Amino acid sequence: MSYGYEPIGAKHSIRERLFFSPVRCTAILLTVALSLTSIGFIMVQRPWQSTVLPNIFSPPVTNMFGPPVPEVVSANVYDPFVAPSPSEAIVDPTVRPIEAHCALSDECVDMWVSTGQWQEPCRHSMVQDANIDLVYVWVNGSDPLHRQARQELLAKTHYKTKDARFREHDELRYSLRAARNATASWPNSTWHVITADVPDPDETDDNRRLGLVPQWLDIECAFYGSPEGQPSIRLQHDTELFRLTGRPGATLKATDSSTWLQKVIPSFNSHAIESQLPQLDPDIVSENIVALNDDQFFMLPLPPSAFHTTMYGQVFRMQWDLLVGGDSTGRADGGGEWRSLGWSSYLLNERFGERKRPYMHHNARALSLPLMHETSLAFGSYFAATPLSQFRGSHKVAEEFEVNTIFLTTHYVIERHREALLWSWVVAKWGGASGVIDSAQKDQMWRELGGSNSESRRDNETLTMLAPERTTGDNVETNLLMGGVQPPYSSDPDRQADTTYSWVSMDGYSASFHQFAAKATINRAECLGREAEPAWAVFRRLLKDSPSCGDNVIASLIHASKSGLSVFLPLPPPEPTPPSPSDPIILPLELPLEAPPLPQNPRAFAVRLLLRYAYVLGDSPTLFLGLKSATQGERALVGADKKKNTALLCLNDDLRDGDQTAMNGVLRRWFERRWPEKLQCEL
Ligand SMILES: *[C@@H]1O[C@H](CO)[C@@H](O)[C@H](O)[C@H]1NC(C)=O
Ligand SMILES: *[C@@H]1O[C@H](CO)[C@@H](O)[C@H](O)[C@H]1NC(C)=O
Ligand SMILES: *[C@@H]1O[C@H](CO)[C@@H](O)[C@H](O)[C@H]1NC(C)=O
Ligand SMILES: *[C@@H]1O[C@H](CO)[C@@H](O)[C@H](O)[C@H]1NC(C)=O
Repeated sequence: MSYGYEPIGAKHSIRERLFFSPVRCTAILLTVALSLTSIGFIMVQRPWQSTVLPNIFSPPVTNMFGPPVPEVVSANVYDPFVAPSPSEAIVDPTVRPIEAHCALSDECVDMWVSTGQWQEPCRHSMVQDANIDLVYVWVNGSDPLHRQARQELLAKTHYKTKDARFREHDELRYSLRAARNATASWPNSTWHVITADVPDPDETDDNRRLGLVPQWLDIECAFYGSPEGQPSIRLQHDTELFRLTGRPGATLKATDSSTWLQKVIPSFNSHAIESQLPQLDPDIVSENIVALNDDQFFMLPLPPSAFHTTMYGQVFRMQWDLLVGGDSTGRADGGGEWRSLGWSSYLLNERFGERKRPYMHHNARALSLPLMHETSLAFGSYFAATPLSQFRGSHKVAEEFEVNTIFLTTHYVIERHREALLWSWVVAKWGGASGVIDSAQKDQMWRELGGSNSESRRDNETLTMLAPERTTGDNVETNLLMGGVQPPYSSDPDRQADTTYSWVSMDGYSASFHQFAAKATINRAECLGREAEPAWAVFRRLLKDSPSCGDNVIASLIHASKSGLSVFLPLPPPEPTPPSPSDPIILPLELPLEAPPLPQNPRAFAVRLLLRYAYVLGDSPTLFLGLKSATQGERALVGADKKKNTALLCLNDDLRDGDQTAMNGVLRRWFERRWPEKLQCEL
C-alpha cells in the first residue's frame, strides 16, 4: 500500500480523489487496523483526585486554583470572582516550550524528525496518550443579569444584534454527557467551561463580578471530579482571561491595559472571547486542548490520538471545499464569520505569502495552548483589536477587525512548519556559518532538488517533479504503538470513532495547500538564481515572495527519501553539542529583513522547531446539522441517528423565533434518548 501523498498538480485517479476528499475512504487504511483489544494500554492514575471535601465555611475564594464558592442572586447561582487588575491583564511575552517535547532527549528528537521512525534512542520514551483538556465557551443568554447587561450596552452603543446568538437549548449539559462517554479513556483530562460574567449587583466595586453557572451543575462537586473517572469541571469566566497583547517586542504598561479593558469589557462577542483563549493559564489548563462550543457533540468514543499526539502533533480537520482568501477591506459580513476569516487570511498572507486556505471543520477542534499563545504574540496588535467589537462585527474600523482565532492559530502552525523546513534547508544547511550561498553551492542545491548535473549554464532550467514514494503513512500505526499511543483508527467504526491521518507534516508541506498555485515545475532562475546571495534573501523569497517556489522546493526535497526530513537538515556537528540554553526556541515572530544570528547547534534547533509545529491533516466522519424548524429539525435528527459512524456532530441553530419552544422539546427528547445518564455532579 503506498501512502497517499498528493503530488503537485497531478491528475488524480478516482481512487486518489476518494482518498483525498473529505468523504474519506475508510477501507484503505482499515486494512492495516490492528485489533486494539490485544494491546494493553496502561491507564494513568488521576493524580488530582482528592478526598478533601469542600469546606463550605471558608471565605470567598478569589484565586483560580481554589474551589468555587457559589453566590445566589434572585434564585440563580453564580460564581463570584475579582477581575484581574490592569497590571495583571498584560500578556506574558515569553514564548513557551512544549513540555511533552522537553521530556524527549535530543538524540530521540533528532532520530524521530530525521528518519520518521520511532526507534532507538526513542525506544524508552514511551510518550503515551497525550493529556488533553476540553475547553468549552458558554453563555446563558436567558440569564436575567446577562440580558440586562447586554441590553444596557446595546442601548449605549445603538447597536442591534440577533438574539439567536444567545439562545439556550440546554446543549451544554448533553455535550458534557457525550464527552464523558467519548473520552472516558483519556488520561488526566480536565474540563474547563469558560462562561460569561456580569457585574455583581450587590457590590459597588466594579471589579467584583459574577460568573454565569449552568444551573444544573453543582460546581463545588464538579471541581473535584470523581475517582470513577469523571474529570474535574472548572469554571473560568470571560473577564478573567483578557490580556492586552501588542506588536512583538512592544512594552505594555498598566495604563495601556487599563484603557484597553475599558473599551473591551463587557464582551458579548464570541470572537472576542475566543481571541483570549491563548491566555488560558498554563498552570491549570493542559497544553493540549480540544475546544468545543456547546452545540458540538462527540458521538462515539475517540482515543486521544484523534486530536493530539506528542509525536505527530495536533490533528486538524479541514474543509477543503471551503477556501478563504485574504480580505483586508472588512466588506464581508461581520455578523457571521466571513469578515474575521478574510482578515485572518490576509494577515497570514502578509506574514507568510499569499494563498487561499481551507476553513476548519465547524466541530470539536484540536488546539495547542503554547502555540496559540505564540500566535497571540506574533499577531499581538490584531488580537488586542479583536475585542474592540463588543458585539460580533460591531467595530468596523480598518485594521481593527476581529481575528478568527481558530483559523488564525491553526494556519499559523501550518505556516510555521513550512517556514521551519525552508529555514533549515536554506539558512542552516546551505547558508551555514557564512550566511551566504555562492553560485557553486546553488548548483549543488539545484542538484539536490533533482536538477541536471550538467555544467550547462542555461538560465532558464526547469525541473518537473515526480510523484514521491513515501512510507510515512504506512509507518504511523507502528510508530504510535512503539510510543505507547493508541492509534486513532477503528476496526469497528460504529462503536469507536474512526479517524484517519490522511497526511502528516513529516511529509513536508501538504500539496493540498497550494492546489491553486498548481505549478508542477521549478524554474531555477525564478526560485534559486545563480549569483551569490545571502541565505536569508533566498529564504525570504521561498517563504513569502514566491510562495510557489517554496512549496515546490519542499515537494522536490520530499522526493529525495522515503521517510523523515533529514534532507532538510544541516549535518550534525562533529562533536555532539546540546542545544545552547542561550539559543531562542523559535524563529523570530515577525519576519526580519536581516538574518538573526544562527543558533549554536543549528541542527538541534531545527529538529526541535519541526517537532514543535508538527501537525496532522485528519479525517473523521463529521456531521453539521442546521436546525431551521421543529419539523425539519426532527427529520434531521432521525437522519443523524442512522449515520452510526458519525464521530463529531454540530447542531446549528438557524431557527425562526416562533419555532423555539417546539424545537426545545424535540431536542430534549433526542438528547435524553442518546445520553440518559446524568453527570456525576448534575443536580
Ligand atoms: C455513558 O457513560 C455512563 C457512565 O459511565 C454509562 O453508564 C453509560 O452506559 C454510557 N453510555 C453509553 C451509551 O455508552
Ligand atoms: C439560563 O437562565 C435561565 C433564566 O435564569 C434559567 O432558568 C436556566 O436554568 C438557565 N440555564 C442554564 C443551563 O443554566
Ligand atoms: C495532569 O494534568 C495536570 C494539569 O494539566 C498537570 O499539571 C499534571 O502534571 C498532569 N499529570 C500527569 C501525571 O500527567
Ligand atoms: C523560461 O522558460 C519558460 C518555459 O519553459 C518560458 O515560458 C519563459 O518565457 C522562459 N523565460 C526566459 C527568461 O527565457
